Amino acid sequence: MLNEILDTGFLTQGKYVTLFENKIAEYLRIKYAVAVSSGTAALHLSLAAVGLQEKDEVIIPAYTFPATANIVEMLKAKPVFVDVDPFTFNIDAGKIEKKITPRTKAIIPVHLFGNPADMDPIMKIAQKHNLAVIEDAAGAFGSSYRNKKCGTIGNIGCFSFHPRKIITTFEGGMIVTDDNLINQKLRILRNHGLKSDGIFSNLLECGYNYRMSEVQAALGIIQMDMFQDIVRKRKDLFNIYASLLMKIPEVFMQKCLPDSDPVWQALVIYLQNAHSREIIRLLRASRIEANIGTYALHLTDYYRTRYRNTRYPVAHQLYERCVALPFYNEMTLSEMKQVVKTLKEKIYEVQTT
Ligand SMILES: Cc1ncc(COP(=O)(O)O)c(C=O)c1O
Repeated sequence: MLNEILDTGFLTQGKYVTLFENKIAEYLRIKYAVAVSSGTAALHLSLAAVGLQEKDEVIIPAYTFPATANIVEMLKAKPVFVDVDPFTFNIDAGKIEKKITPRTKAIIPVHLFGNPADMDPIMKIAQKHNLAVIEDAAGAFGSSYRNKKCGTIGNIGCFSFHPRKIITTFEGGMIVTDDNLINQKLRILRNHGLKSDGIFSNLLECGYNYRMSEVQAALGIIQMDMFQDIVRKRKDLFNIYASLLMKIPEVFMQKCLPDSDPVWQALVIYLQNAHSREIIRLLRASRIEANIGTYALHLTDYYRTRYRNTRYPVAHQLYERCVALPFYNEMTLSEMKQVVKTLKEKIYEVQTT
């Protein structure tokens, strides 16, 4: 395929990008898919496309990957954090409405680690207050909520194809929408703000270079052709892993809503009686690559100063207690057993010292 791409002479945003976009749109049953250079680029362009202005406010969960908040900052607007649910780890929809002010323009629910957020109440609040909903489905490609694919429920959905995601283009992302005006705006903004009339281009906006290359798109196409197998395998592995982990009484798994069907991007556990950093250090010393789940953003150095008087107790707790365990499609049963055995030993070690 690499030779074919080189022969076309179009190395970026050519026919493979269009093919990849079409495959994603068809799979998600949505009108438009716009390929970009990363999940962060997808979110940034989406906020720009809905016309976010300086000092506008955007509601986001307090427990998420920094990109969800950083893209709001990049547009000189304000991220407004809402605490998350202790079971799903996703934004607590019941806490959103009291954070809405006349400056609020959008809500960005995150389907954390592939787990669908509770979209129905979020959409109701958004409709009532006339807010845009941009789903951060960075890690939720293939997950469903009440028979709808994550990313297709709000006005815009954003995916990441970073190597830690369900499918990867090494770096890359996709924006999906049913709104043609947004679709056209996104296409202009990802290519510097230029629009072609078929012969010449004119600069309509001050845009970005967030294009995807042809090689990245070709990688995506190959994985889309075997996507059902990837999902089946991932689900089987997760179920086996979870059944082993559930035998450790101190370990709690992230819960999904009854009508949702997650494709888990990461396997993140909550430790009842141990600090995650201690366990992570011990696991790494045993050559098991563990990490924190994600960030309570108000506790990070960058956001801490401006969110000094705010409390998000659940996000705080998850930040201190969650551990992401190794989880990849080629993982064997003996590797999973090894991780679980070592984890059990290390929890015991921490509790008895
Ligand atoms: C929830 C969430 N949003 C956004 C991103 C950003 O995606 P990317 O790394 O492709 O820029 C990530 C990446 O891990 C993520 O987990």
